[in-house]
Amino acid sequence: MLERRVALLDGTPVLIRPLRIEDAALYPDFLKDVTADDLRLRFFAPMREVSPEMIDKLIHYDPKHAMAFIAIEEASGRMFGVVRLHDDPDGEKAEFAILVRSQLKGRGLGWLLMKHMIAFAKDKGLKIVHGQVLTENATMLVMCAELGFHFADDPDEHGVKAVTLPIAEVPSEAT
Ligand SMILES: CC(C)(COP(=O)(O)OP(=O)(O)OC[C@H]1O[C@@H](n2cnc3c(N)ncnc32)[C@H](O)[C@@H]1OP(=O)(O)O)[C@@H](O)C(=O)NCCC(=O)NCCS
Repeated sequence: MLERRVALLDGTPVLIRPLRIEDAALYPDFLKDVTADDLRLRFFAPMREVSPEMIDKLIHYDPKHAMAFIAIEEASGRMFGVVRLHDDPDGEKAEFAILVRSQLKGRGLGWLLMKHMIAFAKDKGLKIVHGQVLTENATMLVMCAELGFHFADDPDEHGVKAVTLPIAEVPSEAT
């Protein structure tokens, strides 16, 4: 369940598995193929590059309260994407964030990573998965709608949608 072999829409085989500390070595090659615009959509702030300190923080998550899944192309061992899930203090909800290699967008990886993360949340017994998405991020909002997320304007941040998925509403076959 933690690990899954999947195929992109064009058939490319990809392994989705928990992110490990040694995957820090894969990040520079991955991030050099992520556009500044995609970094902004992910981190909500303009940034030219992700610092080594930030990569270190992303890699050293506390598995008791967080999870991250990496997608790796089987043939090359290259990192194609990552989805994370960080528990809220109440232990019932968790916040996700996702990033896919820019050149790979539209090939089904974001969808597969989101489904994998939602299945993990269900297995873990979480009640709600939620995230923040910029209103201009049409791809992400459409995908969230298709996955059953509810939408609201984020009360704290202008131009941001709060997207929420009650896990009880996720059909078993959809995980
Ligand atoms: C948003 C993001 C994660 C989407 O990833 P992606 O790999 O390009 O998305 P996919 O190819 O899986 O999905 C794209 C489309 O196919 C649909 N889709 C893909 N696989 C599908 C499937 N098996 N069944 C049904 N629909 C599917 C998606 O709903 C979406 O629809 P659209 O093109 O009509 O909008 C990616 O663009 C990204 O990393 N963006 C920058 C960071 C970001 O925006 N993060 C979100 C905020 S945390």
